[in-house]
Amino acid sequence: MRKYQQIKVVPLSSAIGAEIGNVDISKDLSSTVITEIRSALLDHLVIFFRDQDLSDPERHKMFTEYFGDLFIHPNFNLGQNNPEMVYLTRRPGDTAAAGERWHADTTMMENPPMGAILFALEVPDWGGDTLFANQYMAFENLSQGMKKLLINLKAVHNDSRVAGPAVGLNSKRATKVREDEDWTLTENSHPVIRTHPETHKKCLFINSIYVHHFEGMSVEESQGLLEFLYTESTRPEYSCRFRWKNNSVAFWDNRCVQHLAIHDNHSATRKMQRTQIIGDAVI
Ligand code: SIN
Repeated sequence: MRKYQQIKVVPLSSAIGAEIGNVDISKDLSSTVITEIRSALLDHLVIFFRDQDLSDPERHKMFTEYFGDLFIHPNFNLGQNNPEMVYLTRRPGDTAAAGERWHADTTMMENPPMGAILFALEVPDWGGDTLFANQYMAFENLSQGMKKLLINLKAVHNDSRVAGPAVGLNSKRATKVREDEDWTLTENSHPVIRTHPETHKKCLFINSIYVHHFEGMSVEESQGLLEFLYTESTRPEYSCRFRWKNNSVAFWDNRCVQHLAIHDNHSATRKMQRTQIIGDAVI
């Protein structure tokens, strides 16, 4: 493992995730600390911080901007002040939760976000954990034959399952998205195998929330292979599970990670504050 001079890095599983200590991310950070945090993110794919105070949205945004420009999510932008900040809230009785299926975030965009930083404002004593899965491993462990098949494929990603007037999520959950008549579908195709722009390693880039079908194939023709890849890419041995406490932070690399928010505590409130960072074209 890489040696760090300033921060403490403790892996959470063999595949993915590390807890970062020895740093207060609500304060101004030196360039050495920022470089070390970025290195830990590239090495571990998702990093966690405990006992931080990012409750002030301006501090949360300042920490985010050390790593890139703030992204505005088209479907969570309901005309509020501060559209860069998204509140993912669950209330007792919600029958749906944002992100409750395996996914990478917002991959219908031409340039999907590079990462997301999620801060726990209020979490239950148990339940509401988040799972993360390493998509480099998902690619590397495929057979040569499967890699050869996938290398030339593109997948069509769109937001038809998570926003728009037909979707009906707002009646099931506290976190609201655009469901108005003026909403328009966002759709873009991306390679199924992408090369990470910083590590230059290949990883799988599909997910069951946004991928609709493979380019040049019907939905029915795509379905079997997609189902195989969804199961394969989220194997327990490629994953870690994070147990939240109030004031915990998760920062994931959206280019090589899938994640899932477990919706298992239906009687508690869970309030999270999230920023996203603008990403690059998928190549
Ligand atoms: C997300 O999918 O971005 C949110 C994950 C969570 O709420 O745990």
